[in-house]
Amino acid sequence: MAQVAFLGLGVMGFPMAGHLAAKGHEVTVYNRTAARALDWTGRHPGRHAATPREAAQGARFVMACVGNDDDLRAVCLGPDGAFAGMAPGAIFVDHTTVSAEVTRELSAAARELGIGFVDAPVSGGQAGAENGQLSVMCGGAQADYDAAEPLIAAYARICRRMGDSGAGQLAKMCNQIAIAGLVQGLAESLNFAQRAGLSIPELVEVISQGAAGSWQMQNRHATMAEGRYDFGFAVDWMRKDLGICLKAGDEIGAALPVTALVDQFYKDVQLMGGGRWDTSSLLARLKG
Ligand SMILES: NC(=O)c1ccc[n+]([C@@H]2O[C@H](COP(=O)([O-])OP(=O)(O)OC[C@H]3O[C@@H](n4cnc5c(N)ncnc54)[C@H](OP(=O)(O)O)[C@@H]3O)[C@@H](O)[C@H]2O)c1
Repeated sequence: MAQVAFLGLGVMGFPMAGHLAAKGHEVTVYNRTAARALDWTGRHPGRHAATPREAAQGARFVMACVGNDDDLRAVCLGPDGAFAGMAPGAIFVDHTTVSAEVTRELSAAARELGIGFVDAPVSGGQAGAENGQLSVMCGGAQADYDAAEPLIAAYARICRRMGDSGAGQLAKMCNQIAIAGLVQGLAESLNFAQRAGLSIPELVEVISQGAAGSWQMQNRHATMAEGRYDFGFAVDWMRKDLGICLKAGDEIGAALPVTALVDQFYKDVQLMGGGRWDTSSLLARLKG
């Protein structure tokens, strides 16, 4: 069992840290908004710390799941950042979805301090985090990955090293590119069904077992039919992810026309006040 810090107890981090505690690891959590850390320690064995540095002190592994590039820098760097508290030989595992650039930048800063760094973004949503069934795509040195993988297994259905530092984030970009057009297609299909007077549960029971079936269809059709979006993967985060994908696509010469279009649709959802709505809220935009 390892001494572990977990930074960021949001929709994803809260249950992920809980799985580590349930496996018997000695977990210290940090959350910017302290009330959430207190909520976590009220439900799980473990301690909470006032800063990332304090949480990281003595930890063999420091896991993080915060928001964007700047948020990740904020918890890693500076006098109160995790790197300041980590000893040489410790390993930082980042589950945030960020750019490959910030990953390489922080990985290099960690290496200077003798700290390992594994980029390990996740897919599988809130339910995947709660059920311990995430897909985890990693980048970094093989030895760091090998050391971290048994911990990540606490909340993973599958975990794979895709290559050197940043490769996990590149794989996550492929994941988001594949989802963007798919969710819009699902929203158009369910909007069409409702306007055509079909029952969504009956429709999905049939078509989900054919070639149109998808995770999004299985896990989101019921809430989409109810027009309920107050959970899950926030539109603000999806726009952050698609921005990362579009920039990387430009750099490597990969055309992303549908991704660019769906990014604009998510902008409409933000303007409707849906920045924190689940990404399946593309249907709300079609309803006007
Ligand atoms: N939700 C999903 O389905 C899903 C799926 C796959 C990947 N992701 C990715 O996972 C990451 C987290 O997503 P989430 O849904 O868990 O987000 P969330 O619920 O908004 O939680 C974000 C967490 O990061 C913390 N945070 C943000 N900025 C910070 C800063 N500058 N300094 C310190 N802490 C900071 C927040 O602290 P406070 O509590 O103080 O705000 C909160 O604990 C994102 O990169 C997202 O793209 C999410």
